[in-house]
Amino acid sequence: MIKACLFDLDGVIVDTARYHFIAWKALAEELGFEFTEKDNERLKGVSRMRSLDILLEIGNIEMEQEKKEELATRKNDHYRSFITQMKPDEILPGATEFIKELKENNIKIALGSASKNAMTILDRLQLTDWFDAVVDGTKVSKAKPDPEVFLKGAEELNVLPGECVVFEDAEAGVEAALAGGMKCVGIGTPEVLGKAHLVVSGLHEMNFDKLSKL
Ligand code: BG6
Ligand code: MG
Repeated sequence: MIKACLFDLDGVIVDTARYHFIAWKALAEELGFEFTEKDNERLKGVSRMRSLDILLEIGNIEMEQEKKEELATRKNDHYRSFITQMKPDEILPGATEFIKELKENNIKIALGSASKNAMTILDRLQLTDWFDAVVDGTKVSKAKPDPEVFLKGAEELNVLPGECVVFEDAEAGVEAALAGGMKCVGIGTPEVLGKAHLVVSGLHEMNFDKLSKL
């Protein structure tokens, strides 16, 4: 029986990938190389520092840890200049309706995100109060595909992993859910998220009935 739903944030509830892209691209330009939208795909679901490592790998640049931290902070300041201006109309189609339907059916809700900016985004979208638990990048030590983020979410909600459904747009996130013994709905395409129990193009395609049949 399903008692809880755990949501990834970026790419599931809101499309922040374009803000990440603008900020990483500006950094790459400063460093003297090009960073494309295709490159940006590789950063989805990946932590900030790992994203920087991938970016530097693309530019064929090596640098010391201290300098890397300075660049990651600069990128984050740029990224935050966008997300602190976000409005509730940027919530992806169907997300609010689905969350409301879940609450009406006594399903608990948690966030399971790699982002250290998750609370800022939830607040800007006026979604914070819907969540019974929030596990974000400030609370975990192991990145997806490790299941830590979702297992902590289940623990905070006081439910068993087998009673949870995870909603994820990144392959590493789907793997994390499965490694945690949870059901998973992929948000995207079956080519990328084929390991999930069900793949839909967005939360507008979800409802309580579909969830109950998982
Ligand atoms: C994930 C995004 O949700 O959060 C990644 O998909 C991002 O692209 C990661 O790198 C970390 O985000 P932040 O906000 O802590 O830099
Ligand atoms: Mg995501």
